[in-house]
Amino acid sequence: MFRLAISLKIGATMRPVFPSSGKRFYKKKSWKMQRKKASSLDNFQAFYSEQFGKDWPSIMESLSQTTQHCAVVNKFSFQEEVHEKLSSTEAEFLNISIFNSHEDIQTELQLNCYFPNSSNRVRFPKQDKTSNSYFDYYLLDASSMLPVLALDIYTNNAVLDMCAAPGGKTVLVSQLLSNHGSLVASEISNTRRANLIKVIKDYIPKISKSKELVEVRNLTGHKFATYEPSTYDRVLVDAPCSSDRHNLQTNFEYSVWSEMKSKANANLQKKLLLSALQTVVPGGIVVYSTCSMSVFENDAVIDEVLSKCTQNNDLKVEVLDSQFTNQPIADMFNFQQTRNGILVLPSKTKNWGPLYFCKLQRFAVESRAEFQKDNAVSSGIQ
Ligand SMILES: C[S@@+](CC[C@H](N)C(=O)[O-])C[C@H]1O[C@@H](n2cnc3c(N)ncnc32)[C@H](O)[C@@H]1O
Repeated sequence: MFRLAISLKIGATMRPVFPSSGKRFYKKKSWKMQRKKASSLDNFQAFYSEQFGKDWPSIMESLSQTTQHCAVVNKFSFQEEVHEKLSSTEAEFLNISIFNSHEDIQTELQLNCYFPNSSNRVRFPKQDKTSNSYFDYYLLDASSMLPVLALDIYTNNAVLDMCAAPGGKTVLVSQLLSNHGSLVASEISNTRRANLIKVIKDYIPKISKSKELVEVRNLTGHKFATYEPSTYDRVLVDAPCSSDRHNLQTNFEYSVWSEMKSKANANLQKKLLLSALQTVVPGGIVVYSTCSMSVFENDAVIDEVLSKCTQNNDLKVEVLDSQFTNQPIADMFNFQQTRNGILVLPSKTKNWGPLYFCKLQRFAVESRAEFQKDNAVSSGIQ
């Protein structure tokens, strides 16, 4: 009984307190907690210095700095007011197209953003409602735009954002759909879903009085395969992960970083990705992303899911070239091409990320067979 009382007391001192400022802090740190945090930092450093070698010290230094932001203009707001507000900042205005873009690209298939160039760090003014009551812009780490642009969304697509809160990428998808098509934003956490609903209300109008562009759900990601097989044209899996920059800067979560936890995240991530590949229509595109640098949560997840797909005759999947290097936006990021995708790594002059993404396409079984036949003929194998 006495022991239980003591452990409850220690538990209580370790619990974060949320003061009115909204900042997370700790009343008291026990020596146990301090030691755990130090060993966690050692694990983190050892793990990533092995993965990145001589590049690690500079990645770690950039990672420790606060996140930079870019501002994506809300197309549903009164945009003239937004441009007036942001043109006085030192950020540069850019139109950024979906990956599979052509010369004659429609302007809807672009994100309009104010982007700090490498030599300056911009402090954006506070976001606010414009005169049509929608918020002016969404602030985010610029690398967060990449998985959404890689989805190659077209007008009238049915899109699923499988892990949607707090809603940054939901807002970006809505910008590309521009009131045509449909978007399901699913989130299992009640508190995070409440934030998502608020973001949607602030940024995205209804298509008409009786029709919403975004439908919010609370379905766990791996159930979509069962409940809605072959349903969506595009699926985004922005998976829960070890969020390296966030963890590094937040004592509470950072104190539990370990290789084992990263592997545990990977187990859920594989289920979510496999479900995404089943809920997308044959021929549809899935983008998998994380803000972790761990190989377990990135390329290894893709490898295992691909190997599961090869054992399933009804589910044939191909990793697509993200075409990232052909885009002018490639210069805006420091990135590594990995075995299956792209890893944006923070650097001193381009301090975005970390963010990993991989683009996959589900083939219809027939078209996969055709695809293999074509390949065999062109390479002389019959
Ligand atoms: C990286 S965050 C998503 C960030 C979001 N896409 C954005 O851009 O604002 C991952 C989200 O997945 C949610 N999540 C956790 N487990 C899940 C599951 N089994 N199915 C679906 N979502 C899940 C978490 O609650 C979290 O909100």
